Amino acid sequence: MPQSQRRILVTSALPYANGPIHLGHLLEYIQTDIWVRFQKLFGEHCIYVCADDAHGTAIMLKAEENGVTPEQQIAQVKAEHERDFADFAIRFDNYHSTHSDENRHYSELIFSRNKAAGNILEKEITQLYDPDKGMFLADRFVKGTCPKCGAQDQYGDNCEVCGATYSAAELVDPYSTISGAKPVTKGVTQLFFNLPKFTDMLRGWTRSGSLQESIANKLNEWLEAGLQPWDISREAPYFGFEIPGYPGKYFYVWLDAPIGYMASFKHYCDQHGIDFDSYWAPDSDAELYHFIGKDIINFHGLFWPAMLEGAGFRKPTALNVHGFVTVNGAKMSKSRGTFIKARTYLDHLNPEYLRYYFAAKLTSKVDDFDLNLDDFVQRVNSDLIGKVVQIASRTANFVNKFGSTLSSELDDPLLVADVQAAADSIATSYEAREFGRAMRDIMALADRGNLYVQEKAPWTLAKQEGNEQQVLAVCTTALNVFRLLVLYLKPVLPQLAEKSEAFLNIAPLQWQDAQQQLLTHSINPFNALMQRIEPASIESLLSASRDITAAAVEIAAAQKASSGKTPSTKQLPQGDSNIVSDDISIDDFLKVKLRVAKVIKAAHVDGADKLLQLTLDVGAEGTRNVFAGIKAKYTPEQIEGKLVVLVANLAPRKMKFGVSEGMVLAAGPGGEDVFLLSPDSGAEPGMEVR
Ligand code: 2FM
Ligand code: ZN
Repeated sequence: MPQSQRRILVTSALPYANGPIHLGHLLEYIQTDIWVRFQKLFGEHCIYVCADDAHGTAIMLKAEENGVTPEQQIAQVKAEHERDFADFAIRFDNYHSTHSDENRHYSELIFSRNKAAGNILEKEITQLYDPDKGMFLADRFVKGTCPKCGAQDQYGDNCEVCGATYSAAELVDPYSTISGAKPVTKGVTQLFFNLPKFTDMLRGWTRSGSLQESIANKLNEWLEAGLQPWDISREAPYFGFEIPGYPGKYFYVWLDAPIGYMASFKHYCDQHGIDFDSYWAPDSDAELYHFIGKDIINFHGLFWPAMLEGAGFRKPTALNVHGFVTVNGAKMSKSRGTFIKARTYLDHLNPEYLRYYFAAKLTSKVDDFDLNLDDFVQRVNSDLIGKVVQIASRTANFVNKFGSTLSSELDDPLLVADVQAAADSIATSYEAREFGRAMRDIMALADRGNLYVQEKAPWTLAKQEGNEQQVLAVCTTALNVFRLLVLYLKPVLPQLAEKSEAFLNIAPLQWQDAQQQLLTHSINPFNALMQRIEPASIESLLSASRDITAAAVEIAAAQKASSGKTPSTKQLPQGDSNIVSDDISIDDFLKVKLRVAKVIKAAHVDGADKLLQLTLDVGAEGTRNVFAGIKAKYTPEQIEGKLVVLVANLAPRKMKFGVSEGMVLAAGPGGEDVFLLSPDSGAEPGMEVR
């Protein structure tokens, strides 16, 4: 144990309670977990808390869509999240929810203290309102035509085509993505946190030296550009905490989310007799670290420290920020099968492979992280199986054969001493979150161990009688190296460590055990500690992750691009910038009625350069009139008589040329590159497509 124990409180960002944990999340939890495990192994007093981020419009709508109450929705997702984390060996000291008594208490406290200090402003603003749904619409829930370039179906805050930013009220032909209704503007009084008042404090805090350079620079850019008051209230209906003294107004989800760190910690303190205030008082000597992604540094680097300061609490010691995850060099994609959920991964692969690969490539920088699947297989097999486990697998059986007790002396004490001596620099790398450097150093030691075993070749020595003592001394040397490697890898590979401790017949390793050697000690029989990754498991992981619904969503998007807007009831998961396409469940997919249809008539449409008007035979369901944006590719003659796939339960849309009663599925980006999906001959109009 270190001479004076540090007291460290660590958090990872709270995942939203409306979707599953995926690889993009896991980078952060695994990074944090490795750091926390290292601190504990080293002997520091370190507490790791997290929680589900349970509030907000997206979660409220998700519950509605699933036909459950928000409370049921968040309870179910929390249970799933906790199972995923546990199975990835992510070991929180406490996992809580922002929809908790503790969080209500601290949210109200932080609000009321800030209010008493004059940091809360009231302002009348105008906002878009969905008259059908009876609710105000956040920018995320309004779409329309970009006022700058005319691109259709752009979100209410920025245009993905021309990059313009604007307010939702400026959109041309806006519609609510929730109901499809045309929003109206309505005045409403909202509460604002007076962020500009904290500008000087934030300047000092961001320059205090404990932020990564690129993060400090980004925050400074915002500070130089000038801060704006922050809108912290939302109108009912909203799933969250009602603001005391303001009936019908709720704390914005991003106000109470970071307070969830405190709430989870408070829950832990109450169960373990820890003094909460000694961690959160302004002069606390405890350290507070938030591990987060680069997309949420405004919340953690500006709003959060300012709210804490305004309420008389301490500020974070540092933010440890990481970049986004890409797979094979591109954003995770459902249709390519690279949007990989934690659970799907676990169905196919050992979680420690991923923990190791993340560790092997992580630095303390904010760079994006590419999970290259070929490199992943190669690196895990070569390092973990080919280097670390191999030292034990090549030597253990000789010890067992000659009495199962390690020798009293090492054959190569210098080698073991060198491996022991590396403990300090590896610890320094862990502390600095330079996990990649730690892994490289550990693998260099493993290389030396393997070279040693190769040179001594105990399998040859053992063939001659009378060599038993030498074989034991060689294998004891090798197993001492192995024990140290396992210790150094223990923050990353806790399961491998546990199995190895059982095999070596030793108590759970602590960092300071690097100073000891294992001599005259009896060990247990050796069982395989880890299997190689078979490339076939990667294939099955990808195919299990490949989402036919996403392919359908992409096709529909291509159609939409050529045939006008389609209001959608789907919501993007809030703030999840790791995902390419929206998340929909199999139940959502089953709501889409897909039918085989036969084109019985196709005609040009006067005044439309992209559309053909199709009359479709849908068997027992009769005929349908559909406008399809396929004219650049198909003439009416080419398409008449063809079988197509129809989305048969799309709400009829009134277009300039008439009502379109469905959508014909096609692939491709549009224009001439559009390819109708046509069932094999033999399919009959009206048949269900699955
Ligand atoms: O971006 C997100 O996924 C948020 N749910 C993170 C919240 S972190 C903290 F502030 F609660
Ligand atoms: Zn635009």
